[in-house]
Amino acid sequence: MKKSFLKWVGSKSRLIPQLLPHLPGGKRFIEPFVGAGNVFINTNYDSYVLCDKNCDLINVYRWLRDDLARLLNETKSLFDSQPDFYDVRSRFNNSTLLLSVQRAAEFIYLNRHCFNGVCRYNAKGEFNVPIGSHKSIYFPKDELIAFSNKLISVPVELVRADFSAVIENTTRGDVIYCDPPYISDDENGIFTGYTPGKFDAETTKRLHNLLVSAVRRGATAIISNSNNSLVREIFNDFEIYEVSAARSIAANGNRKPAKEIIGVFTPDMV
Ligand SMILES: C[S@@+](CC[C@H](N)C(=O)[O-])C[C@H]1O[C@@H](n2cnc3c(N)ncnc32)[C@H](O)[C@@H]1O
Repeated sequence: MKKSFLKWVGSKSRLIPQLLPHLPGGKRFIEPFVGAGNVFINTNYDSYVLCDKNCDLINVYRWLRDDLARLLNETKSLFDSQPDFYDVRSRFNNSTLLLSVQRAAEFIYLNRHCFNGVCRYNAKGEFNVPIGSHKSIYFPKDELIAFSNKLISVPVELVRADFSAVIENTTRGDVIYCDPPYISDDENGIFTGYTPGKFDAETTKRLHNLLVSAVRRGATAIISNSNNSLVREIFNDFEIYEVSAARSIAANGNRKPAKEIIGVFTPDMV
């Protein structure tokens, strides 16, 4: 399995072997919550729509697609110069050029140097994760190159938006894979990072309703989420498969295998 250059809470890197058999053939693959892109790099569709609400993430992907050499240079010199983590973090938080290559490089730097690769912003939109304790820092050059190659090898639309924007535009034959922030029936289990704002049960119901409409138009929807009664209730019209995955990163440091579900809803089920 190929691994993304980013560490990401909720990354599907270890679940790929269990997920792939549930992804049907199709021409266009839509990921409304692309995150670190582990599903993107391990699948082979003719074209992709990759969406995330996190503007820094999509900025990095745009640089990887449009100017790999420049992004690699910028990121490598940042890693090599061994700056103080908190200097980089405050430069990142004070920068006004939100689409710059410097900001993209700083985002990769913060991801590799912060605590557990967690991506979390405060209400003001500032990245607020502290430094991690790392014996050595890996510069993911090969993974960056591989990701860039995949981005330029097929038509890929990169979208920085709420998931609704891309799901509403799906049509017959599209395959939509959703890996949203998980909801829990236990309030303590919710990770509210990635972007400012909360992803709660109401947002998950909104996602469900949009997916049902998309399937009525002839798309197929696949979702990942945690295995709990609230999720099962919301996705009660989906075919549910239980999976157990080693966690790559848990926001709370819990590394016990996570009980998850994969839900599938196809046009013949409506
Ligand atoms: C569990 S992660 C996806 C991980 C990805 N499948 C992987 O393997 O790396 C969830 C993603 O949803 C994004 N997200 C959160 N709220 C969103 C929203 N309203 N619309 C679109 N993306 C959102 C987060 O920024 C995060 O990257």
